[in-house]
Amino acid sequence: MKQLVVYSSQGGNTKKLAETAFSRLSGDKDISPVTDAPDPSGFDVVVIGFWYQGGQPDPASQEYLKKCNNVGKLFIFASHGAATESDYVKMGMNKARELAGTANIVGTFSCQGEVPENILEAAANKDPQPPWLKDADAAKGHPDANDLYNLSDALEKAGLVDSPKPTDEKRMFS
Ligand SMILES: Cc1cc2nc3c(=O)[nH]c(=O)nc-3n(C[C@H](O)[C@H](O)[C@H](O)COP(=O)(O)O)c2cc1C
Repeated sequence: MKQLVVYSSQGGNTKKLAETAFSRLSGDKDISPVTDAPDPSGFDVVVIGFWYQGGQPDPASQEYLKKCNNVGKLFIFASHGAATESDYVKMGMNKARELAGTANIVGTFSCQGEVPENILEAAANKDPQPPWLKDADAAKGHPDANDLYNLSDALEKAGLVDSPKPTDEKRMFS
């Protein structure tokens, strides 16, 4: 079974999640930034991670998601400044699902990711301010060990990770 982890990451948050996902997969696996990623059609499992820009998957990830229509097992994850349980985040994830069209989506995961200070300042000066800005303080320090644990759990629920989880996994990721 060929597995591919693809990610887009400007500041490293989504890359951190991607590396955790990669470390949890066993067998034939590869990891690649979206800009260099191979065509998904050659893989049985594709795990793709994007960051939110304008409330949606970043543009490079949108393009890649469109190519994932025939993927047999697709797992989508993301990081964002907005609060994880917000409708705003759900809409962005729905957009990703839509782009993947007929792919078999076996699971999703997202968490907050710290937003760089200069981006926060620029967002604060906008009128109107972007809806995610009010949640961005709480994104500081994320993704953290708990987020990585939850990602790992979501991969397991999706059936992509079959090895039993060590009881001290939270420590493993810290
Ligand atoms: C230019 C820019 C635009 C952003 N737009 C959004 C947005 O629309 N919604 C959101 O929730 N977060 C937004 N963010 C926050 C990022 O999605 C978040 O910090 C994410 O974890 C960045 O991931 P990365 O470090 O992998 O690039 C934005 C960040 C940047 C730099």
